[in-house]
Amino acid sequence: MDGTGLEDMPRTGSAVATYVVNAAVWAPSVHNTQPWRFASQGAEISLYADGGRQLMVADPGGREMIISCGAALFTAQLALRSLGFVPETRVLPDPADPLLIARLRWRRQAPATQPEEQLFRAITRRRTHRGGFEPVPVPFRLVEIMREDAAWHGAALRVAISDQSRAVLAAITQNADQVERLDSAFVREIASWTPPPGSMRLDGVPVSAYPAYLDLTDPNFPGRDFGRPFGWGLPLSARISPTRVTGVVCLLTTNQDGPAAWVHAGQALQRILLTATTCGVAVALHSQPVEVSWLREAIRSQLGDGSYPQLVLRLGTAIQDATSIRRPAANVLEISRRSPDHVNAVGARTRA
Ligand SMILES: Cc1cc2nc3c(=O)[nH]c(=O)nc-3n(C[C@H](O)[C@H](O)[C@H](O)COP(=O)(O)O)c2cc1C
Repeated sequence: MDGTGLEDMPRTGSAVATYVVNAAVWAPSVHNTQPWRFASQGAEISLYADGGRQLMVADPGGREMIISCGAALFTAQLALRSLGFVPETRVLPDPADPLLIARLRWRRQAPATQPEEQLFRAITRRRTHRGGFEPVPVPFRLVEIMREDAAWHGAALRVAISDQSRAVLAAITQNADQVERLDSAFVREIASWTPPPGSMRLDGVPVSAYPAYLDLTDPNFPGRDFGRPFGWGLPLSARISPTRVTGVVCLLTTNQDGPAAWVHAGQALQRILLTATTCGVAVALHSQPVEVSWLREAIRSQLGDGSYPQLVLRLGTAIQDATSIRRPAANVLEISRRSPDHVNAVGARTRA
Protein backbone atom coordinates (compact mmCIF):
# COMPACT_ATOMS: atom_id res chain seq x y z
CA MET A 1 0.00 0.00 0.00
CA ASP A 2 1.09 3.51 -0.67
CA GLY A 3 1.75 6.20 1.89
CA THR A 4 0.51 4.26 4.90
CA GLY A 5 3.66 2.47 5.99
CA LEU A 6 1.93 -0.85 5.42
CA GLU A 7 4.71 -2.32 3.32
CA ASP A 8 6.85 -3.62 6.22
CA MET A 9 6.13 -7.15 7.35
CA PRO A 10 5.08 -6.94 11.02
CA ARG A 11 6.69 -9.49 13.37
CA THR A 12 4.81 -9.17 16.66
CA GLY A 13 1.14 -9.21 17.67
CA SER A 14 1.21 -5.49 18.40
CA ALA A 15 2.88 -4.77 15.04
CA VAL A 16 0.24 -6.87 13.23
CA ALA A 17 -2.50 -4.99 15.08
CA THR A 18 -0.98 -1.64 14.11
CA TYR A 19 -0.71 -2.75 10.46
CA VAL A 20 -4.32 -3.99 10.48
CA VAL A 21 -5.73 -0.86 12.13
CA ASN A 22 -3.68 1.39 9.80
CA ALA A 23 -5.68 -0.21 6.99
CA ALA A 24 -9.04 -0.48 8.80
CA VAL A 25 -9.25 3.27 9.51
CA TRP A 26 -9.59 3.82 5.73
CA ALA A 27 -13.02 2.19 5.75
CA PRO A 28 -15.93 4.47 4.83
CA SER A 29 -18.08 5.79 7.68
CA VAL A 30 -21.16 7.96 7.82
CA HIS A 31 -20.01 11.64 7.71
CA ASN A 32 -16.49 10.25 8.24
CA THR A 33 -17.30 9.93 11.94
CA GLN A 34 -14.89 6.96 12.15
CA PRO A 35 -17.01 5.53 14.97
CA TRP A 36 -14.56 2.83 16.00
CA ARG A 37 -11.82 1.94 18.40
CA PHE A 38 -9.64 -1.11 18.58
CA ALA A 39 -7.94 -3.01 21.39
CA SER A 40 -5.28 -5.63 20.81
CA GLN A 41 -3.80 -8.29 23.00
CA GLY A 42 -1.47 -10.97 21.66
CA ALA A 43 -2.82 -12.33 18.38
CA GLU A 44 -6.27 -10.81 18.82
CA ILE A 45 -7.97 -7.51 18.00
CA SER A 46 -11.29 -6.34 19.41
CA LEU A 47 -13.26 -3.83 17.36
CA TYR A 48 -15.62 -1.57 19.33
CA ALA A 49 -18.19 0.95 18.14
CA ASP A 50 -17.42 4.36 19.63
CA GLY A 51 -20.83 5.49 20.89
CA GLY A 52 -19.48 9.02 21.41
CA ARG A 53 -19.28 9.34 17.61
CA GLN A 54 -22.80 8.16 16.85
CA LEU A 55 -25.05 10.58 14.92
CA MET A 56 -27.78 10.99 17.53
CA VAL A 57 -30.10 12.87 15.14
CA ALA A 58 -29.63 11.03 11.82
CA ASP A 59 -28.84 7.65 13.34
CA PRO A 60 -30.46 7.34 16.79
CA GLY A 61 -30.55 3.53 16.57
CA GLY A 62 -26.83 3.29 15.71
CA ARG A 63 -27.50 1.46 12.44
CA GLU A 64 -25.14 3.57 10.30
CA MET A 65 -22.53 3.55 13.07
CA ILE A 66 -22.54 -0.25 13.06
CA ILE A 67 -22.54 -0.44 9.24
CA SER A 68 -19.43 1.77 9.36
CA CYS A 69 -17.84 -0.61 11.89
CA GLY A 70 -18.74 -3.55 9.61
CA ALA A 71 -16.85 -1.82 6.81
CA ALA A 72 -13.85 -1.41 9.14
CA LEU A 73 -14.14 -5.10 10.08
CA PHE A 74 -13.98 -6.23 6.45
CA THR A 75 -10.96 -3.97 5.91
CA ALA A 76 -9.23 -5.45 8.97
CA GLN A 77 -9.94 -8.99 7.75
CA LEU A 78 -8.48 -8.10 4.37
CA ALA A 79 -5.37 -6.62 5.99
CA LEU A 80 -4.84 -9.89 7.89
CA ARG A 81 -5.25 -11.82 4.63
CA SER A 82 -2.66 -9.57 2.99
CA LEU A 83 -0.21 -10.78 5.64
CA GLY A 84 -1.07 -14.40 4.90
CA PHE A 85 -3.17 -14.90 8.05
CA VAL A 86 -6.59 -16.54 8.10
CA PRO A 87 -8.79 -14.31 10.28
CA GLU A 88 -11.06 -16.05 12.77
CA THR A 89 -13.92 -13.65 13.35
CA ARG A 90 -16.62 -13.58 16.00
CA VAL A 91 -19.25 -10.94 15.32
CA LEU A 92 -20.96 -9.45 18.41
CA PRO A 93 -19.31 -12.04 20.66
CA ASP A 94 -20.56 -10.62 23.98
CA PRO A 95 -24.32 -9.96 24.38
CA ALA A 96 -23.50 -8.00 27.56
CA ASP A 97 -21.36 -5.56 25.54
CA PRO A 98 -23.29 -4.37 22.46
CA LEU A 99 -20.48 -1.98 21.48
CA LEU A 100 -18.07 -4.90 21.00
CA ILE A 101 -18.62 -5.43 17.28
CA ALA A 102 -16.14 -8.24 16.62
CA ARG A 103 -13.12 -10.15 17.82
CA LEU A 104 -10.50 -11.10 15.26
CA ARG A 105 -7.84 -13.73 15.89
CA TRP A 106 -5.09 -14.97 13.64
CA ARG A 107 -3.45 -18.37 14.12
CA ARG A 108 -3.49 -20.17 10.79
CA GLN A 109 -1.77 -19.10 7.62
CA ALA A 110 -2.66 -19.34 3.94
CA PRO A 111 -1.27 -17.13 1.17
CA ALA A 112 -3.54 -14.28 0.10
CA THR A 113 -5.25 -14.87 -3.23
CA GLN A 114 -4.74 -12.45 -6.11
CA PRO A 115 -8.26 -10.94 -5.73
CA GLU A 116 -7.59 -10.42 -2.01
CA GLU A 117 -4.30 -8.67 -2.83
CA GLN A 118 -6.10 -6.47 -5.36
CA LEU A 119 -8.83 -5.51 -2.89
CA PHE A 120 -6.22 -4.81 -0.24
CA ARG A 121 -4.30 -2.46 -2.54
CA ALA A 122 -7.56 -0.57 -3.25
CA ILE A 123 -8.15 0.33 0.44
CA THR A 124 -6.35 3.69 0.45
CA ARG A 125 -7.25 4.50 -3.19
CA ARG A 126 -11.02 4.19 -2.64
CA ARG A 127 -12.95 7.46 -2.31
CA THR A 128 -16.64 8.23 -1.96
CA HIS A 129 -17.81 9.98 -5.12
CA ARG A 130 -20.22 12.90 -4.92
CA GLY A 131 -22.06 14.11 -8.01
CA GLY A 132 -22.85 12.79 -11.49
CA PHE A 133 -20.86 10.38 -13.65
CA GLU A 134 -19.43 10.34 -17.17
CA PRO A 135 -21.82 8.80 -19.71
CA VAL A 136 -19.82 5.56 -19.78
CA PRO A 137 -21.58 2.24 -19.10
CA VAL A 138 -20.60 0.18 -16.05
CA PRO A 139 -19.66 -3.37 -17.16
CA PHE A 140 -22.55 -5.76 -16.51
CA ARG A 141 -20.11 -8.40 -15.24
CA LEU A 142 -18.81 -6.01 -12.58
CA VAL A 143 -22.33 -5.44 -11.26
CA GLU A 144 -22.77 -9.23 -11.14
CA ILE A 145 -19.56 -9.57 -9.11
CA MET A 146 -20.76 -6.87 -6.71
CA ARG A 147 -24.03 -8.74 -6.25
CA GLU A 148 -21.96 -11.82 -5.37
CA ASP A 149 -19.90 -9.64 -2.98
CA ALA A 150 -23.09 -8.66 -1.14
CA ALA A 151 -24.44 -12.22 -1.08
CA TRP A 152 -21.14 -13.42 0.42
CA HIS A 153 -22.05 -11.47 3.58
CA GLY A 154 -25.74 -12.41 3.57
CA ALA A 155 -26.78 -9.04 2.10
CA ALA A 156 -28.22 -8.23 -1.32
CA LEU A 157 -27.33 -5.59 -3.88
CA ARG A 158 -30.45 -4.88 -5.92
CA VAL A 159 -30.11 -2.93 -9.13
CA ALA A 160 -32.89 -0.49 -10.03
CA ILE A 161 -33.15 -1.46 -13.67
CA SER A 162 -36.37 0.11 -14.89
CA ASP A 163 -36.71 3.88 -15.38
CA GLN A 164 -39.65 3.72 -13.01
CA SER A 165 -37.73 2.12 -10.12
CA ARG A 166 -34.86 4.61 -10.59
CA ALA A 167 -37.33 7.50 -10.57
CA VAL A 168 -39.08 6.20 -7.43
CA LEU A 169 -35.80 5.84 -5.51
CA ALA A 170 -34.66 9.29 -6.69
CA ALA A 171 -37.97 10.85 -5.59
CA ILE A 172 -37.71 9.22 -2.16
CA THR A 173 -34.10 10.40 -1.81
CA GLN A 174 -35.11 13.96 -2.79
CA ASN A 175 -37.92 13.87 -0.23
CA ALA A 176 -35.63 12.62 2.51
CA ASP A 177 -33.02 15.22 1.64
CA GLN A 178 -35.69 17.94 1.86
CA VAL A 179 -36.95 16.65 5.22
CA GLU A 180 -33.39 16.78 6.61
CA ARG A 181 -32.63 20.22 5.18
CA LEU A 182 -35.72 21.64 6.89
CA ASP A 183 -34.83 20.12 10.26
CA SER A 184 -32.44 22.34 12.21
CA ALA A 185 -31.21 19.40 14.31
CA PHE A 186 -30.12 17.53 11.16
CA VAL A 187 -28.51 20.68 9.77
CA ARG A 188 -26.59 21.33 12.99
CA GLU A 189 -25.40 17.72 13.13
CA ILE A 190 -24.08 17.79 9.54
CA ALA A 191 -22.39 21.13 10.27
CA SER A 192 -20.61 19.58 13.25
CA TRP A 193 -19.03 17.00 10.91
CA THR A 194 -18.06 19.57 8.25
CA PRO A 195 -14.64 21.01 9.06
CA PRO A 196 -14.04 24.46 7.51
CA PRO A 197 -11.23 25.12 5.00
CA GLY A 198 -7.81 24.96 6.66
CA SER A 199 -9.09 22.85 9.56
CA MET A 200 -6.59 20.49 11.19
CA ARG A 201 -9.33 18.01 12.11
CA LEU A 202 -8.79 14.37 11.17
CA ASP A 203 -12.47 13.44 10.98
CA GLY A 204 -15.61 14.76 9.32
CA VAL A 205 -16.03 15.49 5.61
CA PRO A 206 -13.31 17.95 4.51
CA VAL A 207 -13.69 20.57 1.76
CA SER A 208 -11.46 18.40 -0.43
CA ALA A 209 -14.12 15.65 -0.50
CA TYR A 210 -17.15 17.30 -2.15
CA PRO A 211 -17.87 19.58 -5.09
CA ALA A 212 -18.49 23.28 -4.51
CA TYR A 213 -21.22 23.21 -7.16
CA LEU A 214 -24.50 21.36 -7.72
CA ASP A 215 -23.96 18.39 -10.03
CA LEU A 216 -27.50 17.53 -11.12
CA THR A 217 -28.44 14.39 -13.05
CA ASP A 218 -31.69 12.96 -14.37
CA PRO A 219 -33.09 11.38 -12.27
CA ASN A 220 -31.37 13.37 -9.54
CA PHE A 221 -30.05 11.91 -6.29
CA PRO A 222 -29.22 14.96 -4.18
CA GLY A 223 -25.86 14.99 -2.42
CA ARG A 224 -25.42 16.17 1.15
CA ASP A 225 -24.78 19.89 1.41
CA PHE A 226 -21.77 19.68 3.75
CA GLY A 227 -19.99 23.04 3.17
CA ARG A 228 -21.35 23.88 -0.30
CA PRO A 229 -23.79 26.53 1.02
CA PHE A 230 -20.72 28.43 2.35
CA GLY A 231 -18.98 28.21 -1.02
CA TRP A 232 -16.64 25.48 0.26
CA GLY A 233 -15.65 22.43 -1.78
CA LEU A 234 -13.70 21.42 -4.86
CA PRO A 235 -13.89 23.53 -8.03
CA LEU A 236 -15.40 22.02 -11.17
CA SER A 237 -13.58 18.72 -11.67
CA ALA A 238 -11.90 17.45 -14.81
CA ARG A 239 -14.46 15.90 -17.15
CA ILE A 240 -14.32 13.88 -20.31
CA SER A 241 -17.86 14.78 -21.36
CA PRO A 242 -20.03 17.80 -20.43
CA THR A 243 -22.95 15.39 -19.89
CA ARG A 244 -23.38 13.92 -16.39
CA VAL A 245 -25.46 10.83 -15.75
CA THR A 246 -26.98 9.21 -12.65
CA GLY A 247 -25.10 5.92 -13.08
CA VAL A 248 -26.27 2.46 -12.02
CA VAL A 249 -28.64 2.87 -9.07
CA CYS A 250 -28.53 0.09 -6.46
CA LEU A 251 -29.96 -0.62 -3.06
CA LEU A 252 -28.10 -2.60 -0.42
CA THR A 253 -30.56 -4.68 1.61
CA THR A 254 -30.55 -7.30 4.36
CA ASN A 255 -33.13 -9.87 5.45
CA GLN A 256 -32.93 -8.82 9.10
CA ASP A 257 -32.56 -5.42 10.71
CA GLY A 258 -30.49 -5.73 13.86
CA PRO A 259 -26.85 -5.17 14.81
CA ALA A 260 -25.63 -8.45 13.27
CA ALA A 261 -27.31 -7.63 9.94
CA TRP A 262 -25.81 -4.13 10.04
CA VAL A 263 -22.29 -5.49 10.63
CA HIS A 264 -22.75 -7.81 7.63
CA ALA A 265 -24.15 -4.94 5.54
CA GLY A 266 -21.00 -2.94 6.35
CA GLN A 267 -18.73 -5.83 5.37
CA ALA A 268 -20.67 -6.22 2.13
CA LEU A 269 -20.52 -2.48 1.49
CA GLN A 270 -16.73 -2.30 1.81
CA ARG A 271 -16.21 -5.42 -0.33
CA ILE A 272 -18.44 -3.86 -3.03
CA LEU A 273 -16.66 -0.49 -2.84
CA LEU A 274 -13.20 -2.05 -3.06
CA THR A 275 -14.25 -4.27 -5.97
CA ALA A 276 -15.48 -1.13 -7.75
CA THR A 277 -12.17 0.64 -7.05
CA THR A 278 -10.13 -2.22 -8.51
CA CYS A 279 -12.15 -1.80 -11.74
CA GLY A 280 -11.87 2.00 -11.87
CA VAL A 281 -15.56 2.44 -11.02
CA ALA A 282 -16.59 5.19 -8.60
CA VAL A 283 -19.45 4.87 -6.10
CA ALA A 284 -21.69 7.54 -4.58
CA LEU A 285 -23.58 6.77 -1.34
CA HIS A 286 -26.93 8.17 -0.19
CA SER A 287 -28.20 7.41 3.28
CA GLN A 288 -30.81 10.19 3.55
CA PRO A 289 -33.65 7.87 2.34
CA VAL A 290 -32.93 5.33 5.08
CA GLU A 291 -32.56 7.94 7.84
CA VAL A 292 -36.16 9.20 7.60
CA SER A 293 -38.10 6.27 8.99
CA TRP A 294 -41.36 6.65 7.00
CA LEU A 295 -39.41 7.01 3.74
CA ARG A 296 -37.32 3.96 4.60
CA GLU A 297 -40.61 2.16 5.14
CA ALA A 298 -41.83 3.42 1.73
CA ILE A 299 -38.78 1.82 0.05
CA ARG A 300 -39.36 -1.33 2.05
CA SER A 301 -42.92 -1.64 0.89
CA GLN A 302 -41.78 -1.15 -2.73
CA LEU A 303 -39.38 -4.09 -2.28
CA GLY A 304 -42.34 -6.18 -1.22
CA ASP A 305 -40.35 -9.13 0.15
CA GLY A 306 -39.87 -7.98 3.74
CA SER A 307 -36.18 -7.11 3.34
CA TYR A 308 -34.64 -3.97 4.85
CA PRO A 309 -33.00 -1.17 2.84
CA GLN A 310 -29.62 -0.18 4.28
CA LEU A 311 -28.08 2.23 1.75
CA VAL A 312 -28.53 3.62 -1.78
CA LEU A 313 -25.47 3.34 -4.04
CA ARG A 314 -24.78 4.79 -7.49
CA LEU A 315 -22.01 3.33 -9.61
CA GLY A 316 -20.31 5.03 -12.53
CA THR A 317 -17.18 6.41 -14.11
CA ALA A 318 -15.66 9.68 -12.94
CA ILE A 319 -12.32 11.40 -12.73
CA GLN A 320 -11.97 11.47 -8.96
CA ASP A 321 -10.07 14.33 -7.37
CA ALA A 322 -11.50 14.08 -3.86
CA THR A 323 -9.25 13.38 -0.90
CA SER A 324 -10.25 12.30 2.59
CA ILE A 325 -8.83 12.39 6.11
CA ARG A 326 -8.45 9.85 8.92
CA ARG A 327 -7.31 9.59 12.50
CA PRO A 328 -4.19 7.43 12.52
CA ALA A 329 -4.04 3.98 14.12
CA ALA A 330 -2.25 5.43 17.15
CA ASN A 331 -5.39 7.48 17.99
CA VAL A 332 -7.81 4.55 17.88
CA LEU A 333 -5.79 1.48 18.89
CA GLU A 334 -5.04 0.48 22.45
CA ILE A 335 -2.37 -2.20 22.73
CA SER A 336 -2.45 -4.23 25.89
CA ARG A 337 1.01 -4.75 27.41
CA ARG A 338 -0.36 -7.19 30.00
CA SER A 339 1.07 -10.25 28.25
CA PRO A 340 4.41 -10.59 26.43
CA ASP A 341 4.10 -9.56 22.80
CA HIS A 342 3.06 -12.45 20.61
CA VAL A 343 5.70 -13.25 17.98
CA ASN A 344 4.25 -14.40 14.67
CA ALA A 345 5.42 -17.64 13.14
CA VAL A 346 5.17 -15.78 9.90
CA GLY A 347 7.60 -13.14 11.16
CA ALA A 348 10.55 -14.29 9.09
CA ARG A 349 8.54 -14.58 5.86
CA THR A 350 8.95 -11.87 3.26
CA ARG A 351 5.99 -10.79 1.19
CA ALA A 352 5.71 -12.31 -2.23
C1 LIG B 1 -23.36 4.08 6.48
C2 LIG B 1 -22.77 5.14 5.58
C3 LIG B 1 -23.59 6.15 5.09
C4 LIG B 1 -23.07 7.14 4.24
N1 LIG B 1 -23.91 8.10 3.72
C5 LIG B 1 -23.42 9.02 2.86
C6 LIG B 1 -24.27 10.02 2.28
O1 LIG B 1 -25.49 10.03 2.50
N2 LIG B 1 -23.73 10.92 1.44
C7 LIG B 1 -22.38 10.93 1.16
O2 LIG B 1 -21.93 11.78 0.39
N3 LIG B 1 -21.55 10.00 1.69
C8 LIG B 1 -22.03 9.06 2.53
N4 LIG B 1 -21.19 8.12 3.07
C9 LIG B 1 -19.75 8.17 2.76
C10 LIG B 1 -18.95 8.87 3.86
O3 LIG B 1 -19.27 10.24 3.90
C11 LIG B 1 -17.46 8.64 3.57
O4 LIG B 1 -17.19 7.27 3.68
C12 LIG B 1 -16.55 9.40 4.52
O5 LIG B 1 -16.71 10.79 4.36
C13 LIG B 1 -15.08 9.05 4.28
O6 LIG B 1 -14.69 9.36 2.97
P1 LIG B 1 -14.18 8.27 1.94
O7 LIG B 1 -15.26 7.25 1.78
O8 LIG B 1 -13.91 9.03 0.66
O9 LIG B 1 -12.93 7.66 2.49
C14 LIG B 1 -21.68 7.13 3.90
C15 LIG B 1 -20.88 6.09 4.40
C16 LIG B 1 -21.41 5.11 5.22
C17 LIG B 1 -20.51 4.01 5.72
